[in-house]
Amino acid sequence: MVAREGTTVNEILRTEGLTKEYGKKVAVSDVSISVNEGDVIGIMGPSGSGKSTFFRLINMLEPPTKGTVVLDGKEISTSDSDVHMTRRKMALVLQKPAAMNRSVFNNIAFGLQLRGIEDEEVERRVTDYLGRLGLAESKERNARSLSGGEMQRMCFARSVIVEPKLILLDEFTANLDPQNISILENAVRDFVKRGDAAAMIITHNPFQAKRLCDRSVLMMDGEFIEQGETSKIFSSPSDERTKAFVSGEMVF
Ligand SMILES: Nc1ncnc2c1ncn2[C@@H]1O[C@H](COP(=O)(O)OP(=O)(O)OP(=O)(O)O)[C@@H](O)[C@H]1O
Ligand SMILES: [Mg+2]
Repeated sequence: MVAREGTTVNEILRTEGLTKEYGKKVAVSDVSISVNEGDVIGIMGPSGSGKSTFFRLINMLEPPTKGTVVLDGKEISTSDSDVHMTRRKMALVLQKPAAMNRSVFNNIAFGLQLRGIEDEEVERRVTDYLGRLGLAESKERNARSLSGGEMQRMCFARSVIVEPKLILLDEFTANLDPQNISILENAVRDFVKRGDAAAMIITHNPFQAKRLCDRSVLMMDGEFIEQGETSKIFSSPSDERTKAFVSGEMVF
C-alpha cells in the first residue's frame, strides 16, 4: 500500500531483481518495478532490449532465472495453480493477435462464458464492449474476416471484458492507422479509469508514451536504465543513453 494525496493506492504488481538468461545472453537483467492501481506505464527501448521477454516473465509464460514477481500481494511462480490465477488477473495483448474461428460476438463472450456468467449478462456486457470499440456492426461476422485494426479492437475487448487487474500491451497499435490507434488508446484510458486496474505498454512510439503513460521506462540490454514520469524522461533525462534516445540520435 502506498499513500498518495491522502488516498490509499494498492500495488498490483511488483518485480524484484527479475532476470532471464538464455545461455550466455542476459535478456532481462535485474529489473525491479512497482505498478499501482491507475498506472499506465510505458516500456520503451531498442529492438532486442528485452521488453517482450520482461512481459513473458510477468505473465508466467517462462520462469525467470532469478528474481520474483508479486501479483496482487502474492508471489507467483510457473506452477499450474499460479499460472491459472495469473491468467485470471492479467491479460497480454500482442501485436499480431489470433482469433478463434467464430463470430466476433463469440470471441469476445468466450472468457465470460468460461466463468459461468449467465447468457443475459454476457449479451449485455459484450454489446457494451462492441459499442465502445466500434464493432457493433461486425457482431455476427467471423472474426477471421476482420481488418487488422478491427481484429486488434476485438482482441482488446476480449482481454478487458473479464476485468483483469493488469493488462500488458506489446506494440498493440504498431502498423495501425491513426483512427484505430485513437480508439484503442481511449479504450486503455477507460480500462484504467475503472480504478482498480493498471496497464503496461511496450511501444516504439515516443508520442504514444507521451499521450498515454504517466510513467515510462527505458530498457536497454535487458536493464531498466531509467524510469520515472514520462514528461521528465523526455524533458530532463538523467542517463546519457536516455538523452540520445529522446533526442532521436538513437535509432530504434
Ligand atoms: N527463447 C529465446 N532463446 C534465446 N534468446 C532469446 C529468446 N527469447 C528472446 N531471446 C533474446 O533475448 C533478447 C531480448 O528479446 P526480446 O524479444 O525480449 O526483445 P524486445 O525488446 O521485445 O525486441 P523487439 O522490440 O524487437 O520486439 C534478444 O536478443 C532475443 O534474441
Ligand atoms: Mg518485442
